[in-house]
Amino acid sequence: MEYQKKHEISVYLTEEQIHQRIAEMGKEITEKFQGESVYLVCVLKGAVFFATELAKHIELPMTLDFMSVSSYGAGTKSSGSIKIKKDLECPIEGENIIVAEDILDSGNTLSRLIRLFKERKPKTLTVCTLLDKPERREAEDVVIDYTGFVVPDKFIVGYGLDYDQRYRNLPYIGFLEDADENKGE
Ligand code: IMP
Ligand code: MG
Repeated sequence: MEYQKKHEISVYLTEEQIHQRIAEMGKEITEKFQGESVYLVCVLKGAVFFATELAKHIELPMTLDFMSVSSYGAGTKSSGSIKIKKDLECPIEGENIIVAEDILDSGNTLSRLIRLFKERKPKTLTVCTLLDKPERREAEDVVIDYTGFVVPDKFIVGYGLDYDQRYRNLPYIGFLEDADENKGE
């Protein structure tokens, strides 16, 4: 993808590896919720590639919905508070909620989101993250049900993840070798 490279990006996971892992996650979710329906929540924007791929492998009646929250200002680290920019379309009381997030970094975003969803009394709450960067964890109360890949403490772009809104459309996941600060959402 030389056309859009301003930074040095090294490929860490190919599209094939990513899709293979997401298919496995979808299969496990399908088995877990046999006979039920699920309400898949994609956390915008980073999880959009992950959530739509995952949705294709969940063979159950499903609602797909989107939520947008902000926790990172441009150029700053996670503040630990989130603001809802776009809420779900429907009430989720009594639903089997599956949250799809792109990456678990400090864990602050998911910690807040999980608390918010629990207040809405879903029947079950299942949390999926494509990537987990455990070295950076601050929130201790985040329990993840499904993790795609555990990644090292490097700045990641591609497959939905951005650096200053760029590189989301790379079909692979890579390390931004010359990242100077964390930017994303
Ligand atoms: P948190 O620190 O776990 O709250 O992470 C919040 C959000 O920051 C994630 O959902 C991502 O959208 C973004 N983020 C964290 N680490 C990275 C990264 O390495 N690359 C791109 N975005 C990131
Ligand atoms: Mg995100």
